[in-house]
Amino acid sequence: MRILLTADPSAAGDLVAREIARAVDRDPATVLGVATGGSPEPVYRSLARAGVRLPHATAFALDEYVGLPPGHPESYRAVLQRLVQLPLGLAADRLHVPDGAAADPDAEAAAYDARIDEAGGVGLQLLGIGRNGHIAFNEPGSALDTPTRVVRLTEDTRRANARFFTGIDDVPERAITQGLGTIARARRLMLIATTEDKADAVRALVRGPVTSDLPASILRIHPDATVVLTPEAATGLSEEEFEAA
Ligand code: GLP
Repeated sequence: MRILLTADPSAAGDLVAREIARAVDRDPATVLGVATGGSPEPVYRSLARAGVRLPHATAFALDEYVGLPPGHPESYRAVLQRLVQLPLGLAADRLHVPDGAAADPDAEAAAYDARIDEAGGVGLQLLGIGRNGHIAFNEPGSALDTPTRVVRLTEDTRRANARFFTGIDDVPERAITQGLGTIARARRLMLIATTEDKADAVRALVRGPVTSDLPASILRIHPDATVVLTPEAATGLSEEEFEAA
């Protein structure tokens, strides 16, 4: 696992955006894994600023809330349409997001893994990290080989995400999330953390064991994983633990 320190969120976004742009240059039909949350936003802004277009690419979202009405502005489909599909010219039918309004969410989750496999698997997967070390919506305790499935969100995650809603009561209690086993099959993982509230989780990721108590620790056993940090997110790490980007 490589750990890179950048100056600020914008530089972190530029670094990851450059890797995505290279992947698309090499293979315009590349399959990207796209993440939501505040951390990846500088990546999408940087891609848009650089004029990167994804007309032949395919993108798979990490997760989606269960139970929001279709078209809800904070559904991850709507967020990814705003941040990725429209500004980067991704074809609407090649943005894949689990259907959180499906009549049978369990069947939808299983079908999602099959759709990723049919597309040839994810090449480059972008990730954020939760304050408790979750990735996508795999909360602590998720087995390291889990498939895409329906999960219940922890109180802490719902509280963290309440900022996107009118309050915690409006944050759905369940989601469909790519599993840790699903995420680990992506050929390359890039995790971005830019704020100090992530520093404890980042330190545990860098120094602690590989454990389902810290879902992000799957990056430690992945053959091609990079963690991109700002000084705030790297609080408490020492210089020999990262490379300057
Ligand atoms: C949500 C998402 C995760 C994301 C996390 C952190 O729980 N499901 O994919 O990594 O939030 O988000 P942020 O970057 O806004 O802190």
